[in-house]
Amino acid sequence: MESPFKSDILKGRVALVTGGSSGIGFEIARQLGLHGARLGISGRRQDVLDAAVAALKAEGVTAMGLQGDVRSSDACEGWVAALGAAWGPALDVLVNCAAGNFLATSEELSVNGFKTVMEIDAVGTFTMSRAAFPALKQSTCRHGACITNISATLQYGATWWQAHASAAKSAVDSLTRSLALEWGEFNVRVNGVAPGPIDGTAGMTKLAPGAKELVQSTIPLRGEMGRKWDIAMMCLFLASPAAAFVSGDTLVVDGANWMWKPRLVERGQVSRASRNVEGKSRAVGTAAGQAAPAAKPRSKL
Ligand code: HXC
Repeated sequence: MESPFKSDILKGRVALVTGGSSGIGFEIARQLGLHGARLGISGRRQDVLDAAVAALKAEGVTAMGLQGDVRSSDACEGWVAALGAAWGPALDVLVNCAAGNFLATSEELSVNGFKTVMEIDAVGTFTMSRAAFPALKQSTCRHGACITNISATLQYGATWWQAHASAAKSAVDSLTRSLALEWGEFNVRVNGVAPGPIDGTAGMTKLAPGAKELVQSTIPLRGEMGRKWDIAMMCLFLASPAAAFVSGDTLVVDGANWMWKPRLVERGQVSRASRNVEGKSRAVGTAAGQAAPAAKPRSKL
């Protein structure tokens, strides 16, 4: 997919993407790198991290692997220090993408299972943002350093077997607003991106195994799943000068999936069904002994 952004839009900038060694996080990192940013990508598995860094370098991207877990504040602080030692003290872009999830009914989910997802998604987002703040404050980006928190749409309303992840992503969305409020005066913008169903991701494999067609039938826009690229482009937009005045928002990238509802009347039947109801109510009024209203000319609209 060709990017609609200029290829040097992040030239000279330093970016850190947690969970950047695979899946959506890797594509976000890759696109930030292809648009000029020097990258730190974090991940827990050294072998996966090494392969990701090698793949990025093969595309000409300057990238550094940062091994560790967002649940550790020492790890998060160490990553920021490593980037500072290599490329200077300022950090321009932080994308909090590290997440954990699985399907579980609430009655079977252990307290530790609930806590684990809260700790990776919600506490990890706070821990990483807090560790990065001193470096983000030093960014010379006129349109502001930016944090982008990768959220979800599970928590809008409710989602089956996702009590833990929904609670965690609600906390992430809340944190996005709180940090935007508190850190705006330091020219740090804080936003979120909420992906819907994205093809070829761990999220789809884990949460909707074998249900691709069913999921697609609930996506109003073209009936297609999103691509990792779609999420990466939104992160790029948020890091760009085009988003200079955008802070505290979570942008949904889901083809209108979260608001999907089954149709109660098919498109071709809407007009007839609606006029039938009106016709019936007039008939009922007349049957009850009321005077029938004078016939009005029918609008053609
Ligand atoms: C029930 C489970 C479970 C499962 C783990 N647990 N898997 N409970 N069903 N399938 C419980 C364990 O029993 C344990 O509780 C607790 O969770 C911690 O498990 P560990 O395996 O010790 O944790 P850890 O090694 O830290 O692994 C974290 C993880 C793992 C979340 C469980 O899956 C992981 O690291 N995932 C990272 C990758 C990932 O999930 N990516 C998908 C993100 S998708 P007890 O009580 O036994 O000690 C996503 C998209 C959302 O976020 C939006 C989609 C539309």
